Amino acid sequence: MIKKLVLKNFRNHEFIELKFEKPFVYIHGINGSGKTSVLESIYFCATTKSHRTADEKELILRNEPFMQIKLTTDEDRYDIVLSKNGKRASINGVEKRKISDFIGHLRVVMFAPEDLDLIKGSPSNRRQFLDLEWMQLNKNYLKNLNTYKNVLKQRNSLLKKIGVDDDYTFLNILGEQLFEAGSEIIKERILFIEELNRYLEEIYPLFSNHKVKIIYEPDVNEKGFKNYLQKQQKQDILYQTTLSGPHRDDFYIDFNGFDAKSYASQGEQRLIVVALKLALLKLIEKKTSKQVVLLLDDVLSELDLEKQELFLKHLPKEHQILMNSALPVQGDHIQMIHLKKEI
Ligand SMILES: Nc1ncnc2c1ncn2[C@@H]1O[C@H](COP(=O)(O)OP(=O)(O)OP(=O)(O)O)[C@@H](O)[C@H]1O
Ligand SMILES: [Mg+2]
Repeated sequence: MIKKLVLKNFRNHEFIELKFEKPFVYIHGINGSGKTSVLESIYFCATTKSHRTADEKELILRNEPFMQIKLTTDEDRYDIVLSKNGKRASINGVEKRKISDFIGHLRVVMFAPEDLDLIKGSPSNRRQFLDLEWMQLNKNYLKNLNTYKNVLKQRNSLLKKIGVDDDYTFLNILGEQLFEAGSEIIKERILFIEELNRYLEEIYPLFSNHKVKIIYEPDVNEKGFKNYLQKQQKQDILYQTTLSGPHRDDFYIDFNGFDAKSYASQGEQRLIVVALKLALLKLIEKKTSKQVVLLLDDVLSELDLEKQELFLKHLPKEHQILMNSALPVQGDHIQMIHLKKEI
């Protein structure tokens, strides 16, 4: 359980110290008071990424040189500083020089409005979800992803220089390396989606009697990828980039036999994504037997009253939940935190 969170220069919070005393924390405050930012900082502490921006400078309070997040759980102390020189992260006072040793130590699952991009957004949103979540559970996947990214970069820069009549030796060596990492990525993604589906099948019916399932759409399967790299070099050279591979993968959510993107309603899409996150929570729980912190940003809006009640009723009791919403939530087991808008 997270006990304490201290933010320095994180977005609009110049300095804030929050103590969490109950497993269910409800953060409220007017628009712009920094509710999402609080959840974002916790997410950052777990993943070293923001869920809403790829430009990390945005996280630092305007005109300040750095930001710092200090987070204390019952067991560990996390400290991460971000400045223009990069990130420095430590756990219990020990600096983690490799950021990958920091990632995934603190376990969180977040739902945020941006997550609707899992249905509505581009394939890259969906790949990012697969990668970010699975790499936290599977260091091997992280390793293969990094290798794949590096080799892909090298191969693409070679493709910009080489001509169709040139010697392909180096291109083929890079192709083999790309296949080695890429085929592992494809296998792992199949596995991850299979496991997620298993939990989604249990969870979604709690809310609705529609049928939902994640369908993986690999750009190429393993065999196709191998063939492509061995035989289609000319095409890649002409286009000066690697046209095929797991970096073009996608998935969609099947909703009663149709793609949820165009078929499910706004509220149904939200419910699907929420259920997907709860499925992920279950998966993490099973894989790590660690406690997971559930971060819920504006999760109730767009759900009808019945769904809101069902949702609150079925929230997992074994995990800490930090949530904010415009809608009032009450109960003895809930700690209320009120944020004031800083000017
Ligand atoms: N780097 C930054 N420096 C200063 N202020 C920032 C920075 N980034 C964002 N802000 C401001 O921080 C405020 C808090 O944003 P946040 O999204 O956390 O609010 P919120 O409480 O979740 O609001 P809402 O209820 O509308 O969702 C916003 O007014 C935003 O403009
Ligand atoms: Mg918000």
